Amino acid sequence: MGSSDSSFVIGDSKAQATAVASSNHESPITNDGADSAVSLYLRQHESKPLLRFITCGSVDDGKSTLIGRLLYESKRLFDDQLAALEADSRRHGTQGGRIDYALLLDGLAAEREQGITIDVAYRYFDTDKRKFIVADCPGHEQYTRNMATGASTADLAVVLVDARKGLLAQTRRHSYIVSLLGIRHVVLAVNKMDLVGYDQAVFEAIASGYRELAAQLRIPDVQVIPLSALEGDNLLRRSPNTPWYDGPALLEHLESVEVEDGQARTGLRLPVQWVNRPNQDFRGFAGTIAAGVARPGDPVVVLPSARRSTIAQVLGPDGPLPRAEAGQAVTLTLADEIDVSRGDLIAAAGDPPAVADQFAAHLLWMSDAPLLPGRPYWLKIGTRTVAASISEIKHRVDVNTQEHLAAKRLQLNEVGYCNLSLEEPVAFAPYAENRTLGGFILIDRQNNDTVAAGTLDFALRRADNVHWQHLDVDKAARARIKGQVPRVLWFTGLSGAGKSTVANLVDKRLHALGYHTFVLDGDNVRHGLNRDLGFTDEDRVENIRRVAEVARLMADAGLIVLVSFISPFRAERRMARERFAPGEFIEVFVDVPLEVAEARDVKGLYRKARAGLIPNFTGIDSPYEPPEAPEVHLHADREDPQALVARVLAALDLQP
Ligand code: ADX
Repeated sequence: MGSSDSSFVIGDSKAQATAVASSNHESPITNDGADSAVSLYLRQHESKPLLRFITCGSVDDGKSTLIGRLLYESKRLFDDQLAALEADSRRHGTQGGRIDYALLLDGLAAEREQGITIDVAYRYFDTDKRKFIVADCPGHEQYTRNMATGASTADLAVVLVDARKGLLAQTRRHSYIVSLLGIRHVVLAVNKMDLVGYDQAVFEAIASGYRELAAQLRIPDVQVIPLSALEGDNLLRRSPNTPWYDGPALLEHLESVEVEDGQARTGLRLPVQWVNRPNQDFRGFAGTIAAGVARPGDPVVVLPSARRSTIAQVLGPDGPLPRAEAGQAVTLTLADEIDVSRGDLIAAAGDPPAVADQFAAHLLWMSDAPLLPGRPYWLKIGTRTVAASISEIKHRVDVNTQEHLAAKRLQLNEVGYCNLSLEEPVAFAPYAENRTLGGFILIDRQNNDTVAAGTLDFALRRADNVHWQHLDVDKAARARIKGQVPRVLWFTGLSGAGKSTVANLVDKRLHALGYHTFVLDGDNVRHGLNRDLGFTDEDRVENIRRVAEVARLMADAGLIVLVSFISPFRAERRMARERFAPGEFIEVFVDVPLEVAEARDVKGLYRKARAGLIPNFTGIDSPYEPPEAPEVHLHADREDPQALVARVLAALDLQP
């Protein structure tokens, strides 16, 4: 079992299972009788407190070596693992034949080839005092996403620096993300002290620099430890090489640090994961309690509907429970038959969380495609998914300096402070109070990629103070008096495809037939309402958002609206479509090959664009995403305008 002061079990879940089996095998207590070594072991570990932590630092800081050494020093590696490690060290090691502890951690073949860590790897180990889950996060800037993944569930972060290099931009970046994701306990591991001759002055300079940074970032608890992962100094126990250091060794600190969960004490919060309805007589609401306590008889409110009831039963995996608390997965039954669906929140009736649809939030952007304000994304918070967009980027944060910078978009790995607007209200808590109810992700609606992680700060008060005003004359009444049904004909296509020409002819025809119509044309609207917008991607998104809103107002007024904008992006055409009732929005793709539009060049713009005089010109150096399923597809280079008009009219069913 090893001679170290603490005994360890290490490895991934599989190795842990092996450890359980092997301790059973070696045990003096035979496996007959209820108190077998296995159940004893399991019970011991069950009662031990858990510390989740992350390690961050760069490849060269020796991070993998540090964790590998922690595990190795436990002397509980199995012979076969040791043999494999030694063989691997010879084959792939970077330590010239010496054991390369970092290889213990490299689960991914690709990492060995590249010599870097590229994904979050979770390791489990335990000592007599505590069990640990460590997320090993990669240090490269482009992997910020993985770091955020690891940090969102951690209580503590071990930030590594190389004593020779001190605090680097990436130390600042990692510490910023650590604080953003609500980690309150940080260990700064000043590694490679052997390479600076265990010099106290070097250590103190780094330590005081870091304490200053931590204060700026409002990280309340910082422990700075001089280390040599390679030599084992101050790893498990204090090293004679640093007699001037009177703090704990790394493992001692990890074993003893007190981590309150940092979450506010509130009444019950249960995000409903699924509704369990095996038969007519049973309806249970299952989920993991995010905060508070659930007991039979407790009054609850279901949000956002605000319906009230009382908890009838709290069911755990083995049946009814007298109570359950944060972290437990339970099924609740309620005393009344009220409507509860997946994504709702069951909360203590006397202490419900706030409900809102506009927020200030931090966003960590994780996609190659930039964040564009106004573009709709899915927002997933707790178990709830709603459509949302960023209404404004207040500023971007330079994560290396914490400076606030102006920004119109966010790029990969950038952090922004934004206003967020949701299509429906959600129950929430500020992230600082509850990570489950205040943390969210954004999902791309086209390809379902996770594009951002975010933390809610507070609800915008303006959301509370603006209400819908009821109007007695409604859309139907306005349309009826005009003897028509409102419609939106949305013409999209390249500049010079003929959108405006066709829209103008359709409008003339409808007008002659006595319909009430209006044309919104890109060139015209850009002279007035949208005169502040140019042709960057973000400006085009805003251009379309505004014109979609105007078209909706006009449809509400009972009009037939013809919109003629390039509207090059699918996401915004879809957003426009979703503003209208089914059947009301008719997408007309005015399709010509780029060569044709360019040859026509009615306004001479293609020539200028080719000459480099107009940047971001659609079709040249700015993309056009053709519609996938337009209601009307016009090949504007194959038919004459009158024929095209006839096709559009044929698609328009104008009978009230
Ligand atoms: S959109 O892409 O934002 O929908 P919109 O339809 O409003 O564009 O405006 C397009 C018109 O602006 C074109 O017909 C053209 O006359 C003019 N224009 C000026 N610069 C550009 C550009 N860089 N790309 C496309 N159109 C441009």
